[in-house]
Amino acid sequence: MTDKKRKLRSQAWFGGEGKNAFMHRSWMKNQGIPADAFDGRPVIGICNTWSELTPCNAHLRALADHVKRGVYEAGGLPLEFPVMSLGESNMRPTAMLFRNLVSMDVEESIRGNPIDGVILLVGCDKTTPALLMGAASCNLPTIAVSGGPMLNGKFRGKDIGSGTHVWKFAEEVKAGRMPIADFLAAEQGQSRSAGSCMTMGTASTMASMVEALGIGMPDNAAIPAVDSRRGVLAQMAGRQIVELVHRDVTIARILTRQAFENAIRVNGAIGGSTNAVLHLIAIANRLGVDLSLEDWDRLGRDVPTIVDLMPSGRFLMEDFYYAGGLAAVMASLDEVGLLHRDVMTVSDKTIGELIDGAPNYNSEVIRPLSHPLTKEGGISILRGNLAPDGAVIKPSAATPELMQHRGKAVVFENIEHYYARIDDPELDIDASSVMVLKNCGPRGYPGMAEVGNMPLPAKLLKQGVSDMVRISDARMSGTAYGTVVLHVAPEAAAGGALALVRDGDLIELDVAGRRLELLVSDEELAIRRRDWQPPTPPEGGYQSLYVERVLQADKGCDFDFLVGRRDAGVPRHSH
Ligand code: FES
Ligand code: MG
Repeated sequence: MTDKKRKLRSQAWFGGEGKNAFMHRSWMKNQGIPADAFDGRPVIGICNTWSELTPCNAHLRALADHVKRGVYEAGGLPLEFPVMSLGESNMRPTAMLFRNLVSMDVEESIRGNPIDGVILLVGCDKTTPALLMGAASCNLPTIAVSGGPMLNGKFRGKDIGSGTHVWKFAEEVKAGRMPIADFLAAEQGQSRSAGSCMTMGTASTMASMVEALGIGMPDNAAIPAVDSRRGVLAQMAGRQIVELVHRDVTIARILTRQAFENAIRVNGAIGGSTNAVLHLIAIANRLGVDLSLEDWDRLGRDVPTIVDLMPSGRFLMEDFYYAGGLAAVMASLDEVGLLHRDVMTVSDKTIGELIDGAPNYNSEVIRPLSHPLTKEGGISILRGNLAPDGAVIKPSAATPELMQHRGKAVVFENIEHYYARIDDPELDIDASSVMVLKNCGPRGYPGMAEVGNMPLPAKLLKQGVSDMVRISDARMSGTAYGTVVLHVAPEAAAGGALALVRDGDLIELDVAGRRLELLVSDEELAIRRRDWQPPTPPEGGYQSLYVERVLQADKGCDFDFLVGRRDAGVPRHSH
């Protein structure tokens, strides 16, 4: 039952007849807002990550207008506000360094303002988790609306995927198989509409997680940014958030443990980004939901990857939408009992109700469970003396023959060392070597850059080698692929065993056995540890706070002091 009488949080600002109420209302009226807009109706914050420096989110001002229509229709007052935006393509040293900073911006912007419910406008990779983390700590009614993917990239009559083809073409150039003029020609057709990466990279993965978690509207994952139905979705979200405020359905009531379990399974089915591991753990821990690497392995292990999208497969997000989108995928998982059907979503229906009978229009794009892209598609969690607190690998993006491998380490102390060394013709490396990159983790880079999918040495690419085992404490772009072990914890900069690896050491990777071992004796490692020096921390500024307080990858890289919910009680007066 809708309780339209409930006194809303915003009335602590806008209600009454005193000096403060005068101030709060009067200044707002300079925007041309009529007096009756402050009569106790729900005030909906539209938290916008629009920025021309975040090209993937550059269309979100227009999308906010669609949300506003819906909010007005339902009798609410929409108020749009900006937060720091994170564009994956431009932001250095890595957008991930600022995810937690944005989450603080979001949390404090919501709590400090007269807002009863919030729409999160997200798109590019880190914007989705950052806003969900901040909103989760406030626990108001919340709906996330993704900006949607770009149309398929096109180059000379073929589809090309954002990110994925940049990696591929760059390797072709390096191997001498693609002229630089062709490489630059491909650049023109890759990004040909508004929207985020149209591969199943981190942006599309997180948009899928939003839908799977039930914190977004149906079809949130896949409607292209420029498809008019994206505007309709935003408008429906605007209507719905007003309803959620009336009924006080807060984010914590949607993002339950079971919702996260569904999301992990869906991530396996879509061949989603390894970045989702960090982000989902961080969001869950804001809500007091205990989610760990073990959950990723246990729940994701048997889920086949059935969505045939780049980087793991062949197609792109536009194809995925036309094939039926995420509902079709979830319906397949449901058939074999891999979903919690009764989880409530922001659209007032359970997940089960939303996906029942969802059609699959193209079984090439969304394959049957009996004919998957990868049989065990979920993200695998590895452990061993090289990663006592865990490391991740995405089997759907890896080479099957390399998933069980023993090889000699070729060590790069940091990313500069890698660049200086990798194309040295004298470098002692062959296809069986294991490339090891240190000091690119949360504290080490800092910010855990997406450099884990180190390009192979030119001399091996020229021989036709296309994949090698790579290990680091870094992340990799969700658009990337390869037999790449990532997120090694503890990281090298925190004194993890990774810091002790030397050229020529034997390393054993066994994905089926979930093991990652450095075949060096404990005695020898103890000797090496005595010589280890921690890196000099950054001096002052945000980076020094980051390095001091960031949690390791297995804990989602949040700041230790941000974990948990602080809710959105009404703060004291400012005057
Ligand atoms: Fe923004 Fe890929 S760079 S979504
Ligand atoms: Mg990325």
